[in-house]
Amino acid sequence: MLITIPDVFSAEEVTQARAALDAADWVDGKVTAGYQAQTVKENLQLPEGHPVAVKLGEMVLAALARSPLFMSAALPLRVFPPMFNRYTGGGHFGTHVDTAIRAMASTGQRIRTDVSATLFLSAPEEYDGGELLVEDTYGVHNVKLPAGHMVLYPSTSLHRVTPVTRGARVASFFWIQSMIRSDGDRTLLYDLDTAIQRLAKDVPGNPAGVQLTGVYHNLLRRWAEM
Ligand code: NI
Repeated sequence: MLITIPDVFSAEEVTQARAALDAADWVDGKVTAGYQAQTVKENLQLPEGHPVAVKLGEMVLAALARSPLFMSAALPLRVFPPMFNRYTGGGHFGTHVDTAIRAMASTGQRIRTDVSATLFLSAPEEYDGGELLVEDTYGVHNVKLPAGHMVLYPSTSLHRVTPVTRGARVASFFWIQSMIRSDGDRTLLYDLDTAIQRLAKDVPGNPAGVQLTGVYHNLLRRWAEM
């Protein structure tokens, strides 16, 4: 499932993040890429543990915690500390799949990457190119969102970022280990949760709503890995 979550960052948060990022020292993005990805990656990143990345990463995590849509779609167990990248002057990232297991630099704790996230911090008008293209069995999805909006997609997908031919594309990117490993199972729970929310709004107090909520939690209880 590929899903857009609007307004994860407010306009003020985007402005604050961009001021800090535009003044930061960036390094070659190959430092965090695996062997295959290194050969196709050409962008800049803030190093893991960079003070600006740590501070803004905490802002991202706080924003996720107040997003019911994120919680419902990702069913997060662990979130990798958010990282930040910048594409400019033809920078791009060729077709790759994200590394399956990543260790957090701070604690050494490993997470399995089930869901990949990109939080856009540049407005689409600020740059040409820089589309995130995600492949699934239905074809190729082209993602270029307003600043402050985020996309979630399965980490199992092949994806790429097209060359930025004007301006700069700044974003936060990170991974989530979900309580639900399978994208298909996670999508099913998301659809069920969405339907329950709609039912509660359209037909408040209907006993079927309680019964379906029970089904949701019992499926989660059956499938969740902690
Ligand atoms: Ni990737």
